[in-house]
Amino acid sequence: AEDVVGDLESVLLSREEIDEIVKDLAAKIDRDYEGKDVLLVGVLKGALMIMADLSRAMKSQVTVDFMAVSSYGSGTKSSGVVRILKDLEEDLMDRHVLIVEDIVDSGLTLSWLQTNLKSRGPASVEIVTLLRKPDALAVDIDVKYIGRDIPNEFVVGYGLDFDQKYRNLDVLGTLAPHVYQ
Ligand code: PRP
Ligand code: MN
Ligand code: MG
Repeated sequence: AEDVVGDLESVLLSREEIDEIVKDLAAKIDRDYEGKDVLLVGVLKGALMIMADLSRAMKSQVTVDFMAVSSYGSGTKSSGVVRILKDLEEDLMDRHVLIVEDIVDSGLTLSWLQTNLKSRGPASVEIVTLLRKPDALAVDIDVKYIGRDIPNEFVVGYGLDFDQKYRNLDVLGTLAPHVYQ
């Protein structure tokens, strides 16, 4: 197989930087949820790495579950109309739910997801995301825990894909133009 690292134009966050950010997020979340059981809800597939690392960096008792969602429409941008491909197995009634995302781009996916999960009777629903693109936000959405704000550029690695590839890169970076041209 081809070498994935060779297709990067630049590294946005190194392995060490990601670890540091995740460690800080975990410490904040541990503090805020002290004495409460947290249900971490990972959004497949992008959240695979952040879910694995964040949950391991936390010291609180947690339960993990996953959801897979897809935007309707064929474009590369979210439409805001979301379809559930895989639903949760956990009952959310009276639970403290923390949605775990890799990136908030337009915010449309999370906005829909947050509303959907809130309708299931949880005690609380908050969001943690590794990355956010403030310049791409299309909706007003309350994201409690943000690892890093980044410029409005296409990034891959650490769970984030281009055409389902590059998720297994252990750094975050931008792709060289020859890859998507
Ligand atoms: C990406 C990303 C977020 C969402 C953010 O997922 O992982 O879930 O888009 O976009 P938004 O803020 O504009 O809604 P994607 O739909 O590409 O699926 P994936 O996680 O399987 O890659
Ligand atoms: Mn995703
Ligand atoms: Mg994707």
